[in-house]
Amino acid sequence: ETSEPLPALAQIPPDLRSLADYERHAPAHFTAEAWRHVQEGSGEGLTLRANRSAFAAYGFRPRALADLRGGGTAIDLFGRSHAAPLMLGPVAYQRLAHPDGEHAVVRAATALDTGMVVSTLSSVPLEEIAGTARAFARELGKDTPPLWFQLYLQPQREHSLELVRRAEAAGYEAIVLTIDAAIKPAGMTLPEGVSAVNLAGMPIPRQTAKPGGRIVLGTPLAEAAPRWEDLAWLAEATRLPILVKGMVLGEDARRVADMGAAGIVLSNHGGRVLDGLPSVLNVIEDVAEASQGLPLLVDGGFRCGTDIVKALALGAHSVLIGRPQMHALAVAGMPGVAHAIHLLRTELELAMAQLGCPTVGDLTRERLIDLPRM
Ligand code: FNR
Repeated sequence: ETSEPLPALAQIPPDLRSLADYERHAPAHFTAEAWRHVQEGSGEGLTLRANRSAFAAYGFRPRALADLRGGGTAIDLFGRSHAAPLMLGPVAYQRLAHPDGEHAVVRAATALDTGMVVSTLSSVPLEEIAGTARAFARELGKDTPPLWFQLYLQPQREHSLELVRRAEAAGYEAIVLTIDAAIKPAGMTLPEGVSAVNLAGMPIPRQTAKPGGRIVLGTPLAEAAPRWEDLAWLAEATRLPILVKGMVLGEDARRVADMGAAGIVLSNHGGRVLDGLPSVLNVIEDVAEASQGLPLLVDGGFRCGTDIVKALALGAHSVLIGRPQMHALAVAGMPGVAHAIHLLRTELELAMAQLGCPTVGDLTRERLIDLPRM
């Protein structure tokens, strides 16, 4: 099935032809502090840069004159069809980019039949986001897209459980437990009207150190950091499939699979946590082998169709995007996000056609060639 471009896409300025164009236009739509927050990597930005440069290590081996009839990009995950191996990853505080925030992003996801992972730190309540998706799907006469809830474990289990129960009640179809960001330096000061609304009434989450505070070990911050036993607890606490996000090692993927997780999100958090983590492209093959056939999703630096093709050829099942949502949302609101998804999907289809691979299943390691590092 082809995705009809939305009428609203006609209003998009014609010079926006790629995700890079949105990124170039975006700074004018943020305060300086919010822009820095969206774009930054940790430390010296080694991982942030590696996430982009890693793609240059692979070239393509196209199949000449391949039969392209009957192709398509649709995939199945947890019994649900996704229009393409592409989802919107969890990105906190989307109202930093646009007053409509998560409402706009989930409408774009609905229009383009694209799954969305809603952050614990969303700036619109998780129930309202799901409600907007349902209402817009009804309006468009289509199904609600797959909505997953990203969980940051809270210092007290009762609060984590409350979030999980709310996500279940609101119709979220999976929990994405993020494990790599328990300890982070202080984030930005949020502007008036943007806050972690899902956590209202709960003690301030300790995933960020106090501004100016440098000491971590031996403090409540480290005491509250999630451990393996918390994953075991969560697996008991919900019947929703659990994906674990934020690992880069095959051995961790294997342990997570053994503990009953339903999927893996291979991620270095967009280069925002431990600087020096490898790019996901460098480790996909290891993690794919270790994850025992579980759905393997990856993120970090995906900006065009050929990027997605490379990850799938190395063994990923789907790709998530982070920052590009914020860029497109800031520049053009809901139609911008819809357009960004549409661009990526169109580029993906073009790359698959040019590679002689009409289906996602045709994207195998043989289609890649290792290029010498420059
Ligand atoms: C994130 N990310 C993130 N991850 C998560 O599990 N929960 C969250 O709330 C957030 N919030 C968040 C905010 C911002 C501004 C950014 C840039 C990132 C990480 C995100 O899900 C993803 O792993 C990366 O963004 C992927 O890299 P790219 O696509 O941004 O290069």
